[in-house]
Amino acid sequence: MSAKPVVVVTRKLPAAVEARLGRDYAPRLNPDDRLYSADDLVALCNGASAIMPCHTERLSAEVIGRLPATIRIVANFSVGTDHVDLAAARARGIVVTNTPDVLSDATAEIAMLCLLGAARRAGEGERLVRTAEWRDWSPAFMVGVQVTGKRIGIVGMGRVGQVVARRARAFEMQVHYHNRRRIDPDLEHGAVYHADLESMLPLCDILSLNCPATPETKGVLNAARIARLPDGAIVVNTARGALVDDDALIAALKSGKLWAAGLDVYNNEPAIDPRYRDLPNTFLLPHIGSATRETRNAMGFRALDNLDAFFAGREPGDRVA
Ligand code: DGY
Repeated sequence: MSAKPVVVVTRKLPAAVEARLGRDYAPRLNPDDRLYSADDLVALCNGASAIMPCHTERLSAEVIGRLPATIRIVANFSVGTDHVDLAAARARGIVVTNTPDVLSDATAEIAMLCLLGAARRAGEGERLVRTAEWRDWSPAFMVGVQVTGKRIGIVGMGRVGQVVARRARAFEMQVHYHNRRRIDPDLEHGAVYHADLESMLPLCDILSLNCPATPETKGVLNAARIARLPDGAIVVNTARGALVDDDALIAALKSGKLWAAGLDVYNNEPAIDPRYRDLPNTFLLPHIGSATRETRNAMGFRALDNLDAFFAGREPGDRVA
């Protein structure tokens, strides 16, 4: 019987996932859930065949260049792959996989939470109650924006975007979307496709960012695009912080151009731009889109399915490089 492949697992994973890892592989686990530096990671990979990282480990071209030749696959515990230099992995013949589908529902739930939290001032309200500063009720107290029946524009109508559209329809919203390509009309359920992002923006009472972070989408929400949104629009980001120009978003939140923003992801997490914290009209979550018990198990099993296929000599289902 051949030895089990050694897999470097960068973060603490759900117990059931680690149990399956232990059954089928020789995992190098991280029981203390310590954030590894690039040097730690490279050292841990000595003699290993695979890495199962999260988006918290940056596998830049430089880091990939330092990995030992034994590493054959990077099976991400994430749908996003912007933390991995895919071209560098390809150049070294390292296979890369991700975990699509299984986190779409959980992430769309958080998008709706961000949307509602921003529109209805949930952060402010929660703080009032929690700090015992809630004194009174009046018709003018904590008045927010109603989302029912509003127009939502979704940037990136992939798996998560389509679930956000479905949830938005339950709030009787009219759905518009921008995507590189129009999706199958059978999947649109009345959503209106805009090949041109610029022409969609004036129609968006709510703008939800749901596209991956790539060199093309970096800073896609910039000052010029915010200016095209209706006054008082709401911005929701549950995809990646890199999609947003922070200076532009913060200026628009300060000036009142935007009503509010609901954010789960940021540039430079977790050391986010501190100005977001000082704004009353931000509803802020700490990158918890996929953080449900069900989804975290499913992500782990999906990453393991990819490893299993690879080591069985088959093409992993979620290969991205
Ligand atoms: C993902 O899977 O990309 C989530 O953002 C968590 O990493």
